Amino acid sequence: MSEKFQENVTVLKQQCIGKDIYDMTIQTKHIAGHAKAGQFVSLYSNDASKLLPRPISLCGIDAEAGTLRLVYRVTGEGTGTEEFSRLKAGDTIRVLGPLGNGFTVEPGKKAFLIGGGIGIPPMLELAKSIKAAGTCEFVSVMGYRDAQTFLLDEFKEQGYVATEDGSVGAKGNVLDAMKEYKLNADVIYACGPTPMLRALKAYAAEQGMTCYISMEERMACGIGACLACVCDSKEKDAHSNVKNKRICKEGPVFLAEEVDL
Ligand code: FAD
Ligand code: FES
Repeated sequence: MSEKFQENVTVLKQQCIGKDIYDMTIQTKHIAGHAKAGQFVSLYSNDASKLLPRPISLCGIDAEAGTLRLVYRVTGEGTGTEEFSRLKAGDTIRVLGPLGNGFTVEPGKKAFLIGGGIGIPPMLELAKSIKAAGTCEFVSVMGYRDAQTFLLDEFKEQGYVATEDGSVGAKGNVLDAMKEYKLNADVIYACGPTPMLRALKAYAAEQGMTCYISMEERMACGIGACLACVCDSKEKDAHSNVKNKRICKEGPVFLAEEVDL
């Protein structure tokens, strides 16, 4: 089992990078040094009435500097994410992590890195780690609603884009962009809204491709203890002996064929 740490971390910087989208860098003692792409951290509110932590994926990991970059959407007024958006450099926040399994990249197999909406941040760290390891080629396809294409410029030369309103890149969703630009790969790594993951699972099955998806579900403990985050799975889980899996513990990354969407 991978090690996890509870730390009071310091916010190094934070900025708003799109409508309700915030980009925060935190200084950790241990978490960054043990983290990998596709894992997440739980952020605790400083407000005692908000007991449950908020799971946020790792958009950037700098193990040497000990920093983590988190990009998240404020979901509404009075929420935990709104509270986080007000944090400034020098403020502290309680964080638990790294949590979940993260992506395991298959070496030598050309990869599609696919992100949709607020599922895009973890794909940026995956792109960086694949580039650094140099174990496979990849092409990224990011899907947005409109021209608010946060993080897109950081995917640089390997990046394609789809927007629902057609304002940037291909009009439609990520699959429309894959078809329009005649892109191909051997394996899919994806994070985004469930309808996108469902469509990619079907596409991968049709094409005979391997497909890894990062799933999201409401969470409570974030560490596998409460079963709040289970999804239906094909095989019986060794922990519960029923056909489901804990997204926070066995996931959030699953082989698409292992889970029901
Ligand atoms: P509130 O309504 O105040 O939350 C109430 C409670 O419900 C909290 O305990 C909260 O954690 C839980 N909750 C509400 N919505 C979700 C949700 N969609 N998923 C899980 N728990 C939820 N969002 C980002 O913007 N960026 C990310 O990188 C990101 N990564 C995630 C990674 C994982 C593995 C998961 C499961 C979710 C991720 N999310 C991410 C979604 C994010 O956790 C929720 O938007 C956030 O918890 C909502 O909290 P809130 O305080 O804004 O809302
Ligand atoms: Fe408690 Fe996943 S959130 S088991």
